[in-house]
Amino acid sequence: MLKVDNLRKGFGSGRRRLEVLKGINMEVQKGELVSLMGPSGCGKSTLLNIIGGLLQADSGNISLSSFNYGTKPPSKVVDVRRNGVGWIFQDFHLVDRLDALDNVAFSLELSGVPSSEAEQRAKDALERVGLGDRMDFIPDQLSGGQQQRVAVARAISGSRPLILADEPTGNLDVKSGEEVIKLFKDLCANDGLSVLMVTHDPLLASMADRMLLLKDGLTAASDIRSAWGIEGE
Ligand SMILES: Nc1ncnc2c1ncn2[C@@H]1O[C@H](COP(=O)(O)OP(=O)(O)O)[C@@H](O)[C@H]1O
Ligand SMILES: [Mg+2]
Repeated sequence: MLKVDNLRKGFGSGRRRLEVLKGINMEVQKGELVSLMGPSGCGKSTLLNIIGGLLQADSGNISLSSFNYGTKPPSKVVDVRRNGVGWIFQDFHLVDRLDALDNVAFSLELSGVPSSEAEQRAKDALERVGLGDRMDFIPDQLSGGQQQRVAVARAISGSRPLILADEPTGNLDVKSGEEVIKLFKDLCANDGLSVLMVTHDPLLASMADRMLLLKDGLTAASDIRSAWGIEGE
């Protein structure tokens, strides 16, 4: 589903040059929830941004469904952003003034879905994440966990095969964080989605099907014991 081959990325030049990703190889299967851990500043967001078509790598290749990219500039991977990946962020990125339904429908409309269809798909997605009774609530009227579920609804409403979640539970209490991960697991197991999720919490990370550790520019398989080892970053 997602395959990353020998991906390299650095920033700056000369003595200020910083090599962040030094040849990343990884895969995420269809229906798989994979967690990505690693010390602060090791390049987790950089990797997600390249997979999400927001940043170009220096070398290497990414294949996602039928998309092939990695070193293409963001202007050349509009299709990846539109049809390849959905995003979930730590601080939800909802529009304050729009209710849950319009937050989801709005992003579909931006990608060219006609309003009436966007509204129906937004309703379906909100039902799917258990917010069928909260569709006309604005973000301020929702708990953090509920706001993140609106963001999940937005991410899945576009029928994209891969969800990228950059510290999705960072602003949530333990219980709401666990519920978001359970929702991810359910979407992977029952809707055939794949989720790549960055988290600092070893317990949440260990709920995934598989854990990866990004360290010194490379990814390696990890387990719960080594995950605890990097906790106090
Ligand atoms: N646009 C940029 N320009 C220069 N340096 C960057 C840029 N983006 C990220 N970096 C650097 O790359 C490293 C990895 O950053 P990031 O991917 O955000 O790490 P993480 O998400 O793992 O905390 C950091 O040292 C950061 O300062
Ligand atoms: Mg980050």
